[in-house]
Amino acid sequence: MTPQGEMFDVKDGVLYIEDVSAVELAERFGTPLYVYSRGAIAARCREIREDFLERWPGRAAAAYAGKAFLTPEMARIIEREGLMLDVVSGGEFFTALKAGFPAGRIKFHGNNKTKAELEEAIGRGVGHIVVDGTDELDLIEEICGRLGKRQPALFRIAPEVEAATHDHITTGKRDSKFGVPMDEHILYPLIGRAIASESVIFEGLHFHIGSQLFDNAPYLEAMERTLDVVLEIHRRFGSAVPMIAVGGGFGIRYTAGEERRPYLYFLDPLMRQVETFCAAHGLKAPAVGIEPGRSIVGEAGVTLYRAGAIKDIPGAVKYVSVDGGMSDNIRPALYGAEYEAVIANKAGQTASDRVTVCGKLCETGDRIVDGALLAEASRGDVLCVFATGAYCYAMASNYNKIPKAAVVLVDGADASVIVRRQSYEEMIACEM
Ligand SMILES: Cc1ncc(COP(=O)(O)O)c(C=O)c1O
Repeated sequence: MTPQGEMFDVKDGVLYIEDVSAVELAERFGTPLYVYSRGAIAARCREIREDFLERWPGRAAAAYAGKAFLTPEMARIIEREGLMLDVVSGGEFFTALKAGFPAGRIKFHGNNKTKAELEEAIGRGVGHIVVDGTDELDLIEEICGRLGKRQPALFRIAPEVEAATHDHITTGKRDSKFGVPMDEHILYPLIGRAIASESVIFEGLHFHIGSQLFDNAPYLEAMERTLDVVLEIHRRFGSAVPMIAVGGGFGIRYTAGEERRPYLYFLDPLMRQVETFCAAHGLKAPAVGIEPGRSIVGEAGVTLYRAGAIKDIPGAVKYVSVDGGMSDNIRPALYGAEYEAVIANKAGQTASDRVTVCGKLCETGDRIVDGALLAEASRGDVLCVFATGAYCYAMASNYNKIPKAAVVLVDGADASVIVRRQSYEEMIACEM
């Protein structure tokens, strides 16, 4: 693949990430290595500020979905870039607070938040809790009553929209484990309770329909259903809905057939739809919130590996094995995710060898790229797999007792370690 995007260059046949040679990075920090471009992350955040937050002042909000990739340094970057943060667990909340991220700018998500997580979040003044069901409201009311707090809350609904993506990453269908069903006798009593509650402040509605989406139609469809709910809330309770959060899900380029669409493509029609609907019904237009994860970090990150065993099975397949695999990138095995790769030290050569890039873990499904087109590989080459910035480090495991890879942030000609490579000792530190 030809590397695309502002963060890549090829000089003297070698791949560069910003101004640093990928080969040098592999030598200096070892492999497997996740490498992020500070500039590429900043570019996406800037796009969100310019084309959404500043375009619709007072009516737009953006939180980075930390599940895609969260470390203390990433939390600090997001704070500096002026976005809020969305977390889904006590661990993500802890990471953000440790990095000095203000609790009031954090949104707490999750379909099964534990009582301990809710206590911690409410106690520390989390900005919003996104309530996922009726019994969660019971818990929040009990905790708020005890702590003498009033908690701003959004209510996640399942808008019953099918999004064109892998089944494992569609989240807005009727049978989804996420959100409150749209059934009248479930949804409105819950919202009515929230509006009347002394423990929560009803801040609005939330939906997230799926991930890696390229079409704005399912967002508009989900928004249409949500606006009907807004109207019904007004009719039943005389209450306004201050915000509708539309989640994340904006698709990125993993392979040559895909192209990331600008945020404008998704968000302008949504903003207009809200305006038009509310003007027609005499309602105050709710603000719109987004929670992109993948689209901020996905293309900004790559993984560098060292090639090892090369196995050419006549008439079948040629494997180029690398020194990582499903322990640092589970996505191909988990939901058939596709990637493209280049040999960083042969980036100037014609890529005409069709191979499967496989990992070193004991599973047949441990493949990173099926049918990759590479220059002729040899042991010791540095392979760069593109667009691994989202949901790879975040989902890394120690399967086969492989230590977790290090993460390096490149900024111009500087490269700094933001996550140290795990040692064997650290890997078994909790094992008695
Ligand atoms: C509620 C919610 N918001 C935001 C996101 C981020 O999605 P993406 O990384 O596709 O932008 C997710 C992903 O699962 C989610 O569940």
